[in-house]
This record gives sequence, structure tokens and C-alpha cells, in this order.
Amino acid sequence: LIKTSSDLPLKGKNVLVSAGGTIERIDPVRYITNDSSGKMGYRLAEAARDLGAMVTLVSASKLEHPFGVTVKEVQSAREMQAELMASFDEANIVIMAAAVSDYRPVNQADRKMKKTDTDIQINLEENPDILATMGQLKNKQFLIGFAAETNDVEKYALDKLKRKQADMIVANDVSKADAGFNKDTNEVIIIQPNHKPIHIDTDTKEAIAKEILQIAINNLKL
Ligand code: CTP
Ligand code: CA
Repeated sequence: LIKTSSDLPLKGKNVLVSAGGTIERIDPVRYITNDSSGKMGYRLAEAARDLGAMVTLVSASKLEHPFGVTVKEVQSAREMQAELMASFDEANIVIMAAAVSDYRPVNQADRKMKKTDTDIQINLEENPDILATMGQLKNKQFLIGFAAETNDVEKYALDKLKRKQADMIVANDVSKADAGFNKDTNEVIIIQPNHKPIHIDTDTKEAIAKEILQIAINNLKL
């Protein structure tokens, strides 16, 4: 099969994707994380690759690396931020599909904590908001965020779009059986500034990834 450049609208473009749930260490054998599998981010990285892009995937997920994609494995939110910022300037599209832990333990013990330790308390501090930081720094980048909500999906997604200065928020209702964490399907609402919300009915994450990228391509500054 020979592909022509019209099949490859992202040829010569750099796409930066984050995926998975970050891991915030408590001690060498324990951590705080969330239910994100990384599947949506991986399908986005593959779809961007198939559209001709050079793709960097900053991953906190254990999924198998996609072929033809540069993968940077990370654990914590701060590691993820450092890897993303290393590729941010050259990126044309940035997709924050990762579920970044909002908080991390203030102290990370370098030895396993013992049951006999007295006064065990885990104090938390806030992680940097990577997407909001990117929103402040962006110039040419088309910036896509995600929002997983259980209620008032459009309201919260619109609030995130504005607060983080993103160009698009892909919102999903994780209380639905066929959407969200660790599923192979999703059902999303796409929120953009000065646009009516676009509802994408239940489909595979692969198909939804293609639709998200098509909207990004239509909005790329050349
Ligand atoms: N995000 C980020 N850095 C964080 C938290 C979130 O970059 N510290 C990104 C996520 O990758 C996602 C978007 O921001 O693309 C929305 O994440 P979400 O957790 O829904 O937003 P929060 O602002 O953390 O709001 P809340 O968890 O209270 O709903
Ligand atoms: Ca959050």
C-alpha cells in the first residue's frame, strides 16, 4: 500500500501525547495512583502516527509501546511534566490524555514504612497543573485536554477549557458503562472555544482518536 501526502496530513508535524495515570510514591513499595489505563492516549499516539506525524508519547501506563512512536516512560506528575516540557516547543499538537495525580505525598520514604512505625500520616501537597502551564506557554501548539467527570460533564469541561487556556477539551462521563477508564470504547463530548459542543456517540477508542485528530488538523495554524 502506497500512501500519498494527502493521506498523511500530519507529515512533518510533531504530536506530543501523555497517557496513563501518574504514580506518586509513598515509599519504595507503595504509591498513590488512579484508574486510568492509558488506552485512549495510546490510541491517539497510534492515530497521529498513522496520519504521518512524528509522535512522542510520555507514558505512565504499562501498555506495550506502540510501533513507530518515541515513548518516554515516567511515574510521577513532576517527571511527566519534565519529559513533556522537553518536547513542547517543537510540538504542533499536544494531547494531555494522562490522568495526572492532583496531589503527591510531601515526603517519600526511602525505606519501606513499617507497620510498627508510630504515628503514620501521609501529608499531601498539590502537583503542578501541566496543562494549565502549557496553556500559558503555548504559541503554535494546538492544546487538547481531557476531562473525566461523573456529573455536570459539559459545565466542568467548559470550566477546564477556560481555566487551562486549552483549545479543546475532550470530556467523558466515566459513570457510563461504555465510557472512560480501562474500556476499549468511549463516548465523548468535544468542547472548543466559540463552538457548540460536539457529541461523539459510543465507538472504539481507535475511532474516537481519529475524530479528535481530524478536528485538531482542521484547526492547525500553518
Ligand atoms: N491535568 C494536568 N495536570 C494536573 C491535573 C490535570 O495537566 N495536575 C490535565 C489532565 O491531563 C487533563 C486536564 O488537565 O487533560 C483535566 O484534568 P482533570 O483531572 O479533569 O482536571 P483538574 O483541573 O485536576 O480538576 P478535577 O480533578 O478537580 O476535576
Ligand atoms: Ca484532577
